[in-house]
Amino acid sequence: MSPETTHDLVARLAARLGPGGLLTEESDIAPFAIDWRRLFPGRPACVARPASTAEVADVVRICREAGAALVPQGGNTGLAGGAVPDASGTQVVLSLMRMNAIRAVDPVGLTLTAEAGCVLKAAQDAAADVNRLLPVSFAAEGSAMVGGVIATNAGGLNVVRYGMTRGNVLGLEVVLGDGTVVDGLRALCKDNAGYDWKQLFIGSEGTLGIVTAAVLRLTARPRHVATALLAVPDPQAALRLFTLAQDELGDAIQAFELISGLSLDLVARHGGLRNPLGPAGWYLLVEAASSLPSLREAAEGVLATALEQGDAVDGVLAESSQQAAGLWALREGITEAEAKEGRGVKHDVSVPITAIPAFLEAAGRALAADLPGARANAFGHMGDGNIHYNVLAAPGQTSEAINQLVHGVVEDFGGSISAEHGIGQYRVTELVRHRRPGEIALARRIKAALDPDGLLNPGKVLAR
Ligand code: FAD
Ligand code: MLT
Ligand code: ZN
Repeated sequence: MSPETTHDLVARLAARLGPGGLLTEESDIAPFAIDWRRLFPGRPACVARPASTAEVADVVRICREAGAALVPQGGNTGLAGGAVPDASGTQVVLSLMRMNAIRAVDPVGLTLTAEAGCVLKAAQDAAADVNRLLPVSFAAEGSAMVGGVIATNAGGLNVVRYGMTRGNVLGLEVVLGDGTVVDGLRALCKDNAGYDWKQLFIGSEGTLGIVTAAVLRLTARPRHVATALLAVPDPQAALRLFTLAQDELGDAIQAFELISGLSLDLVARHGGLRNPLGPAGWYLLVEAASSLPSLREAAEGVLATALEQGDAVDGVLAESSQQAAGLWALREGITEAEAKEGRGVKHDVSVPITAIPAFLEAAGRALAADLPGARANAFGHMGDGNIHYNVLAAPGQTSEAINQLVHGVVEDFGGSISAEHGIGQYRVTELVRHRRPGEIALARRIKAALDPDGLLNPGKVLAR
């Protein structure tokens, strides 16, 4: 794109969006130009901040006429570099932050309708205000936005009970790459009338269309919550405790998180948060919730059995919601603590739940053999098979070598190289290595059908 075309494009966008709708000053656009981990610095032509679906559609049309690429952005908390532009200075960041209204909350029909720029925590709070639960939850919920959460099909802490974001979206409004608005904002639990097209956009990381609003599913808010931290000798014991928890607490389990000893050391060192239990190789943070008053008794029973059979060597059941929040702070502080420790190479993998202990052992063995000095900081959502097998690299070790080693082990266990964070630009090459050629070819046909000019988030998910 020539500088004149970019200049005209910026002028047209400014005229359409009005004051506050377009950012062009270096200092204003800087926060939109780099990802949360500061791994992928870019340089946008400008940042468009439409305030309505009609404005989003016009931004898309204006960019298309100029041949300019668009990079949708929500809270910019993504961990795969998907929401930031390249360094060409020609791409337009499309921030949804001004479209942040909650349009409706229906506590009887159990739905909440929000615009794409609504912060996830604000949507959760609106549900809580009417005694309902919006169950998608993770450490970045205070910044991540509904559109970004949907575009990444976020997982998080409660997938074991409530599923991924995909399962909690009932209706969607999207703007296509040619500016067409498709309104599917239906608040229906059951809807088999034709293709369920919204599923194509959920998890598509801004490469197929722009999410402008959604109807989310709410659930009943359980009255009682039991949160426990357990020290466990090894991942095999953790797996046995997962079965025990299933048998004794059943569908009340809403989080089952595995945490390495190193993770809690990092949280203590960089976050100043104290682990209330003694040193151990592994920990579990388990949470169950129910409206039945017998929950606490059942949770105490599980903890007692776990200690009795030696699968837990220590444990604490939170006595209050403040204490529970303290336990969660340990878990939710891991990502920031790890970032402060040094160069972490992230892996967001999943394997069958039963294979987790063998996977951890095999990956540890491979690391020790081929990349001595690298430290594995493994933690994650064990209850749904998702382990963040992050590696703190030793000097001289490349991300590529570490990725290939870890993903090779994942492949041996029939796993996935991205369980919840997505591909973005971080895993584009690895995706091609680990998906079958037929799957990549199908993905390219879908991309070509919905974005024939390749202007929606180019270079993300699929190589250009
Ligand atoms: P962004 O980062 O702005 O964008 C992410 C992707 O979605 C980009 O490709 C972008 O182009 C696209 N996009 C954004 N908005 C739209 C839109 N309206 N329409 C179309 N495309 C759009 N993720 C998990 O799944 N589970 C976790 O447990 C988890 N924990 C985290 C903890 C921390 C501390 C941090 C920093 C991140 C964590 N994440 C986690 C990653 C991240 O928070 C999620 O991926 C989140 O869903 C991203 O939302 P966002 O609004 O910040 O999206
Ligand atoms: C989390 O579960 O805390 C994040 O998804 C993991 C990460 O930072 O790798
Ligand atoms: Zn996670």
